[in-house]
Amino acid sequence: MKKYQVVVAGKMRPCALAKISSECHVRQWDKIEPIPRNLLYEWLADAEGLVSTGDVRVDDELLAHAPRLRVIAQASVGYDNVDIAACTRRGIPFGNTPGVLVEATADLTFGLLLCAARRIHEGWNQVASGRWLNNHDVPFGIDLYGKTLGIVGMGRIGAAVARRAKACGMKVIYHNRSRRTDDEHLGATYVAFDDLLAQADCIVVLVPLSPASQGMFGRAEFAKMKRTAYFINAARGGLVDTQALYDALKEGQIAYAALDVTDPEPLPGDHPLLTLPNVLITPHIGSATHETRDRMAMLTADNLLAGLARRPLPACVNQEANYR
Ligand code: DGY
Repeated sequence: MKKYQVVVAGKMRPCALAKISSECHVRQWDKIEPIPRNLLYEWLADAEGLVSTGDVRVDDELLAHAPRLRVIAQASVGYDNVDIAACTRRGIPFGNTPGVLVEATADLTFGLLLCAARRIHEGWNQVASGRWLNNHDVPFGIDLYGKTLGIVGMGRIGAAVARRAKACGMKVIYHNRSRRTDDEHLGATYVAFDDLLAQADCIVVLVPLSPASQGMFGRAEFAKMKRTAYFINAARGGLVDTQALYDALKEGQIAYAALDVTDPEPLPGDHPLLTLPNVLITPHIGSATHETRDRMAMLTADNLLAGLARRPLPACVNQEANYR
C-alpha cells in the first residue's frame, strides 16, 4: 500500500524514483525548466515529502504552503537554496548527500586544474578545427610538478584533491575555518587566508556558499594573488564576484580561471567571461558520473523515506529537527 504523498520537484535517477514510487504516491516535475512556483505550492498542499532541487528556493513562504511536510531531501551536498533555520523551526529535517560524491568531485576539480594548466581543451580545439599545422605553434601550459596548490575549504573533497595534488608532486597549503587534525597525514600545511592567496600558484575553491562566504573572492582577493595564479572554483558561483574575476582575467591580474560553477548559472552564451582566452568553464558537472549520481539519488531516497517514517535521516543537515 502506498502510504505517503511526495513531490519530486525535478528530474531524478530512475533507480531512486522507483524506490520512492514503491512506497509513495509521487508527483514529479520532470521538465528541464524549473517547476513554476504556483504549481509547486499547489502540489505541496497535501505533500508529506519533498525532493527539492538546487533551483527550488526552499524558504518560509514555500514551507507555509506545505502544512503536512515531514521531510525534505535533495541530491546535493550543497544546500544554499534552502533556509535550514526555517525548516528546523517547523521540525522538518533536511537531508543532503555528503560523502558519496567526494571522489567524483575531486576528480573533476583536479581535472579542471590539469586541463587548464596543460591547455588540453585548447589543444583539442586546435586539432578539431584543422589548425594543427606543426608541433611548435601549439598551446603551451605550465608544470604542476613543484607548484604550490592552495585549497580554500579543506573538507572531504578538499582532502581528496590534496591527495591527487600530492601524487602530481605539488606542495599543498590550505585554509579552512579550523585546522585539520590530520593535515600532516595529508601532507598539507595550514595557512592564513591572505598567505594562501599570496603563496599559491593554483587556488582551488571548495567552500560551501552561505551569507558569510558570498562574494569572498572579489577585487581585493584577486589583487593579492600572483599574476601567474590559476583560479579553480568547483563549489558555488556565488563565492566569486563575477565582474571582479572578469576584470582580473582581462587585466592579467591573474593568469587563468577554470570554473565548474558560475554566477549566474547556467551562464548565458553571450556572457562576457566567454570572450576571454584565459578561461575554461564546465557546466556544473562535479558530481556528474553515472555511479555517483545514482549513489546521490539513492541516499536522497533513503533520506526521504526515513523522514516520512519519522526515523532519523541517514544524512541530515539539521539534526535537531530530525528528533522532534
Ligand atoms: C552538490 O552536491 O552540491 C553539487 O554541487 C551539485 O549541486
